[in-house]
Amino acid sequence: MPSSPFLIVAIDGGAASGKSSTSRTLSERFHLLHADTGSYYRAVTAELLRRHVTPEDINGVEAALAAVTFTTRVTGRNAEIELSGHTIPDTEIRSAEVTAHVARFAAIPAVRAALLDYQRGQADTARRDGFRGLVMEGRDIGSKIFPDADFRFFLFADPVERARRREQQGLQDQVAKRDTLDSQRLQESLQGAVLIDGTHLTLAEVVDTIAAPIAAKFASA
Ligand code: CDP
Repeated sequence: MPSSPFLIVAIDGGAASGKSSTSRTLSERFHLLHADTGSYYRAVTAELLRRHVTPEDINGVEAALAAVTFTTRVTGRNAEIELSGHTIPDTEIRSAEVTAHVARFAAIPAVRAALLDYQRGQADTARRDGFRGLVMEGRDIGSKIFPDADFRFFLFADPVERARRREQQGLQDQVAKRDTLDSQRLQESLQGAVLIDGTHLTLAEVVDTIAAPIAAKFASA
């Protein structure tokens, strides 16, 4: 009997485009390890803010990065990042302060380089822990981290709708501003990806659209 394939699913998209809810649901449906790379950039940002490092202080950023190690704690189906052995509480990584700074820190090449191999390594973590694959969400997953992913999706949603979603969640966010800071990465990850406009779709409809080809690939193996 042929063994089931190990599938890598890349989901990129702008701020508040529904990547996290979609990825979480897919991870549950297919037993994929879920890696939310936005939370990795947020954790690094929280750590830099704790150390009072500013995005202008590149030497300070590099020194702080050299002083921390990145490991993973798998909780359920979620691959959480640990910095020097500790996870950073969700309340801190989703705080208004981290949200306001993350895109600036994420634009620094040393920050992106520090997380590159770590993110690729999540495929090994998923295999080791017996998952059927990996669903990784972010801004550059299909372009830089896993350009050979089995599936590459790009989630789009109208900026007004996205700002409304954030407000409904009671979160302070500048969706359009972060998109501007992230725009080059977003454009690159859009190339060659399957574009899904979720503006007028429910979460279930977005998930079903993405799940269909994944289910077909597992079924054909
Ligand atoms: O909360 P939301 O889904 O809007 O964003 P996120 O996925 O938590 O990502 C927070 C920020 O991290 C983004 O605005 C990007 O600046 C940065 N990021 C990145 O540069 N590359 C990634 N692969 C993921 C996130």
